[in-house]
Amino acid sequence: MHAIIRCQGKGLLHMNDDPRKPIMSLRNVDMYYEIKRGLLKQPARIGAVVDVSLDIHEGEVLAVVGESGCGKTTLGNVIIGMLKPTRGQILYNGKDLSQMTRQELKEFRSSVQLVQQDSYAALNPVKTLYHSLCGPVLHKKLARNKAEALKMVHEALDMVEISHEELDKYPHELSGGQRQRILMARAILMRPKLIVADEPVSMIDVSLRISILNLMAKLNKTLNIAFVYITHDFGTARYIARNGNICIMYLGKMVEYGNVQRVLEHPSHPYLQALLTAVPVPDPEIAKKKRNLPLKSIEMPSVAAPPPGCRFHPRCPYSVDICETEEPVLLEHNEGLCACHRVKELPQWSLRADR
Ligand SMILES: Nc1ncnc2c1ncn2[C@@H]1O[C@H](COP(=O)(O)OP(=O)(O)O)[C@@H](O)[C@H]1O
Ligand code: SF4
Ligand SMILES: [Mg+2]
Repeated sequence: MHAIIRCQGKGLLHMNDDPRKPIMSLRNVDMYYEIKRGLLKQPARIGAVVDVSLDIHEGEVLAVVGESGCGKTTLGNVIIGMLKPTRGQILYNGKDLSQMTRQELKEFRSSVQLVQQDSYAALNPVKTLYHSLCGPVLHKKLARNKAEALKMVHEALDMVEISHEELDKYPHELSGGQRQRILMARAILMRPKLIVADEPVSMIDVSLRISILNLMAKLNKTLNIAFVYITHDFGTARYIARNGNICIMYLGKMVEYGNVQRVLEHPSHPYLQALLTAVPVPDPEIAKKKRNLPLKSIEMPSVAAPPPGCRFHPRCPYSVDICETEEPVLLEHNEGLCACHRVKELPQWSLRADR
């Protein structure tokens, strides 16, 4: 079962049928960037995340999927508290981040960790791994002395399956896959409840990707760490989120949400259907059921000047008048949420092999 969040206009109806506690909740969150355009012009406003509401539960794996530029990294940075949203609330264990004391914010920053896409940029190139891993443990006073910090680091390395001898090395001496494991070790040393993993496998060899995904699954299962897995790739999203949830983003907005298997087997939003037609399927039974959904335009509009009404309307083959003027809201559909005026009347898709 999953959490159901319905947004209607500016209000939020919240119906939660997930028995697990939400550790993080986003309520109508906007994140606009302002770009200066000279002295006389108004700055341009880029809505990288617009009106997003989500619950992330203890031990949940939530996949956030969308094309490049749709706001995934911005959403991840808002979740970890690195970016302050321009509107809306971020709640951690029910407490608004903007109301937290310094001590509460400190605890929040340890509990919610980020694993970035570029593992090389995320590690200090002039420090050995020993310094990169023991340093934060000592700085945050998680260990009483260096010996205790080293013991904790060894345990974390065992968990991510990296040999203790690697501690004397510098980041450039490791492979991309090993560096990602070091980032996971650095994150788990902070004893997090949630890790936001932003495209963690997109810069490493295809042959190593599955082992990093399996490591994340192990950390999720053995340490009960929740993951927000950000990606543009449905295959890895389905693999890692398994029975978790998926959130599909388009130009800063969430357009579909629900259980990952259900959403990918019965996609409701025309944007998701169009994306899935572009993904090759090895199973001939499923391939037979795939329809072609030719878009009216392959060009992605600029997030700085999103189309009025439904942001997808200039590309959507099902667009009608209302789509050009009224923005659809997320409503319950097919045990999930979908933001499309015509979702109930459009042809239903089934990409299940057994039906
Ligand atoms: N620091 C920034 N200043 C201005 N615009 C930004 C900044 N970071 C991202 N953007 C813009 O916000 C949009 C969403 O970016 P991002 O969150 O990185 O998307 P994604 O991770 O899905 O590729 C893009 O149009 C991007 O150009
Ligand atoms: S609201 Fe209209 S334009 Fe948008 S996805 Fe639905 S049918 Fe297409
Ligand atoms: Mg990104």
